[in-house]
Amino acid sequence: DWSLKDFIEHKIEEIKEQVGDEKVIIALSGGVDSSVAAVLINKAIGKNLKAVFVDHGLLRLNEPEDVRRIFREIMGLDLTVVNAQERFLNKLKNIEDPEKKRKIIGEEFIRVFEEEAKKSGDVKYLAQGTIYSDVIESAASGKKTSKIKSHHNVGGLPEKMDLKIIEPLRELFKDEVRAVGEILGIPKHILYRHPFPGPGLSIRVIGGITQEKLEILKKVDNIFIETLKEKNWYDKVWQAFAVLTPVKTVGVTGDTRKYENVISLRAVDSVEGMTADWSRIPFDILDLASTRITNGVDGVGRVVYDITSKPPSTIEWE
Ligand code: XMP
Repeated sequence: DWSLKDFIEHKIEEIKEQVGDEKVIIALSGGVDSSVAAVLINKAIGKNLKAVFVDHGLLRLNEPEDVRRIFREIMGLDLTVVNAQERFLNKLKNIEDPEKKRKIIGEEFIRVFEEEAKKSGDVKYLAQGTIYSDVIESAASGKKTSKIKSHHNVGGLPEKMDLKIIEPLRELFKDEVRAVGEILGIPKHILYRHPFPGPGLSIRVIGGITQEKLEILKKVDNIFIETLKEKNWYDKVWQAFAVLTPVKTVGVTGDTRKYENVISLRAVDSVEGMTADWSRIPFDILDLASTRITNGVDGVGRVVYDITSKPPSTIEWE
């Protein structure tokens, strides 16, 4: 696409001019927008961009390793991966209220990120992966977000950190951001993955969070997603994931009775997440996922499929 190639050329020049020899920092989440923004800025200023990936332990299976491999080794970014798993887990201990989880994660994220920024000395700019729909949304609501749930993103960072902002993707729609990402050579599985909430798996472990529960959920989620990919359904749904409920249920394996947790699988069709319809995934695919989950993951006693749409339900359970 010629116009997007022009866009990239222009942006690179613009960023070079604006930033000069100053240092820029960006919080890389592994999501589409921050990934494309980081790679674009890296093209312009190379080592003067410092990318920080905060591993809060609430990510999908193998995600921190994947992000490290792709952005440091393949894309050549100066990327710091901060292992903050214990910090977040400690803060979240015994917290059951979803809004409290969001608040704790948002605040702790900023703290970790600020610490990293300080370590890298003279940073003058904060880069963000803001895209056109974010600009529209905050203009329409007069504030950062207008959601029923307080959405955690790095929007709270600039006020606190006294940095100048650069947002190279502000004029682009999501599909253009993906196309720019493709031109820049970012792997497709990063550019076309389902949306993933900032608070991550914390809002998919219903109730209190423990390491054990997170590990169960990561395995289950991975089996569900891999099954969808294998059956060519991953790209047909807008978002799919698993939820670990605190409900215990009776099951039998051989001669023994077990008392284990209920997993709910959720998949939705949507345009931008404001409304959603539950996805009509064929029964044989759900069946395969269920069998693989109960066979492959200890601690799961039953698998159910969520057949509520939004409204009245939200997409996430918390
Ligand atoms: P809900 O559950 O509100 O989700 O119907 C709509 C979309 O937003 C995502 N979501 C979040 N994203 N921080 C985020 O960055 C959050 O706190 C959060 N809560 C929900 C959800 O995954 C879905 O794509």
